[in-house]
Amino acid sequence: MKPRVFCSFPLSPEVSEQLGSDCELRWWSRHLPPTPEELREALACCNGFICLLTDTVDEALLLDCPDLEWVSSVSVGVDHVDVDALIKRGVPLGHTPGVLVDTTADLAFALLLAAARRVAEGDRFVRSGNWRAENRWSPDMFVGKDVSGATLGIVGLGAIGRAMARRAQGFGMRVLGWSRSQRAVAGVENVEFDELIRQSDFVSLHVALTADTRNLFSAEVLAQMKPGSVLINTARGGIVDENALARLLREKRLAAAGFDVFAVEPIAPDNPLLDLDNMVLVPHIGSASSSTRRRMLELAVANGLSALRGQSMQHCVNPEVYEPPGK
Ligand code: GLV
Repeated sequence: MKPRVFCSFPLSPEVSEQLGSDCELRWWSRHLPPTPEELREALACCNGFICLLTDTVDEALLLDCPDLEWVSSVSVGVDHVDVDALIKRGVPLGHTPGVLVDTTADLAFALLLAAARRVAEGDRFVRSGNWRAENRWSPDMFVGKDVSGATLGIVGLGAIGRAMARRAQGFGMRVLGWSRSQRAVAGVENVEFDELIRQSDFVSLHVALTADTRNLFSAEVLAQMKPGSVLINTARGGIVDENALARLLREKRLAAAGFDVFAVEPIAPDNPLLDLDNMVLVPHIGSASSSTRRRMLELAVANGLSALRGQSMQHCVNPEVYEPPGK
């Protein structure tokens, strides 16, 4: 009998053909995503799972799906998966690093420019018909912040943080960086976290969401940011205290923010950030270019095929599961 694989989203005929020769493939084709119960039912007797960052893979799910032998996520971030629980069961987890670096850095820089120069606010102003004689052009209309010559602080100097630094250098910014490993990067001044927070006109987040980075930008840290500065987040929502950020933006202590990611996604309708003109919001689209999304899917399928063929996944988050026991 062929192994059974469940995919939580519809696959193109080409991809299903590619996978289908090695397994019995099922996928979720309903419009609404599976609830945890539906996911549990769908996965109950499956051996492999190709998932999205919107699927929670936790201890409870694993307990109900004892046949699960591998998981392959179409994402680089894996905070939706309980990696320790997978390690305990020897289940490899694949992800898609590398291919989304430039696409995500492009979006981070787009948010930086949009927040600095009030692009989304200006767009709403024009669309809503408010650009009329009584609101005519004036020297103080929609003034924002200069990017060129400003200081950008990059939190996390992994591949995406470094790609952000290259973009900032091209725009004539001074670039400060902080990472736990104090990684040396050409053109980036390594500074202490507190110094980065206090000196930067723009701060951009590029760390994974882990127990160490959850709420890293707490109310206290946000309050130490340079007055009039701008916060950009294309990493994960749980890194920032959104209520504290909303207060500082409302009081104009911070000039603006540009976020692609939120603590709860889809964003809760009562999220206070939604009411603020100096907040630019986009719906978790950091990697959303057609070629990057295609490459992510290719990597996720390749990880799945390796698992189906008894090989190690090429991009495995928890390679220790391949080590012989007792090593
Ligand atoms: C996107 O956020 C990803 O983790 O791929």
